[in-house]
Amino acid sequence: MREQLEALKTQALEQLAAADSVDELEKVRVQTLGKKGELTKILRGLGKVSPEERPKIGVLANQIKEAFNQALAEQQALLKKSAMTARLNDEQIDITLPGRTPDVGSIHPVTRALEEMTTIFTHMGFPPATGPEVEDDWYNFGALNIPDDHPAREMHDTFYLPPAHDGGKRLLRTHTSSVQVHFMENRQPPIRMIAPGKVFRCDSDITHTPMFHQVEGILVDEGVDFGQLKGLIETFLVRFFARELPVRFRPSFFPFTEPSAEADMGCIFCDAKGCRICKNTGWIEILGCGMIHPNVLENVQIDTEKYAGFAFGMGVERLAMLKYGINDLRTFFENDIRFLRRHASVGGE
Ligand code: PHE
Repeated sequence: MREQLEALKTQALEQLAAADSVDELEKVRVQTLGKKGELTKILRGLGKVSPEERPKIGVLANQIKEAFNQALAEQQALLKKSAMTARLNDEQIDITLPGRTPDVGSIHPVTRALEEMTTIFTHMGFPPATGPEVEDDWYNFGALNIPDDHPAREMHDTFYLPPAHDGGKRLLRTHTSSVQVHFMENRQPPIRMIAPGKVFRCDSDITHTPMFHQVEGILVDEGVDFGQLKGLIETFLVRFFARELPVRFRPSFFPFTEPSAEADMGCIFCDAKGCRICKNTGWIEILGCGMIHPNVLENVQIDTEKYAGFAFGMGVERLAMLKYGINDLRTFFENDIRFLRRHASVGGE
């Protein structure tokens, strides 16, 4: 039996050394130490060995088992190492491959203009306020001195919504002037604010989109006059454009201001010679303004004997077109990535 064991040891160790894959190693292990393995069989047969011989044979068998297990572990480590070396040789990483650059968003030119306008007005003492985009008739029209049957309503192509529960008219605000009413109804002068936001009109052509942005502004106090309004607008425009552009004020009409004016700026697209964008006038209309009509102040319980105010409302897209040299209003809303990249500004720029 001793010889048998020695022979088995030599054979098993040779097989281990010859194994060149993990699978083969496992095969040798099963053949030797598995349930039906050669060594296992011999150990089972120990009962037949004479009692004197038995302990010696047992010790030898265990030594062989240990030697086998050790050789198995060594061979396993060796195979793993060479497998790793082989992988490292075949699977090289190309460190010259350019990395993936993350897509970085940028500020839309309309948002950028709105933010710049808000900053300038805030520095001039006019902090921003907001109001709802869905309004009722009173805030958008009635309180602003535009009664039901007033022809001025035709100036605004209004989007009407299904009526409220109480049957009241609901609409998308056609101008930010509605915010004046919300703001003044809870306050007494001195009042100063601007209201930047979206407005909606049922209108769509080269120079009109159904949604656009306005910045409204008001100042109500004792002794406010039209000269201060002009001065404020002119100062704002110089700061916004960071250069002088021709500006003119034209008498106009709004039901909520008296007197009223509109301000135009020289068209930068044709150097005021006349083009498609300025409709051959050389001027682009940018805002409406005027002294707040006493009826409006009375509607929000402000004493018109004591106080007066001015208001203005300007078109953000118009100003952005002039400032950034964008000649088609509709490009703002098409989300063409090439347009957005061209006018990109990353936060803070
Ligand atoms: N709400 C007017 C418009 O949308 C603009 C305006 C605002 C005019 C304030 C006068 C005073 O056309």
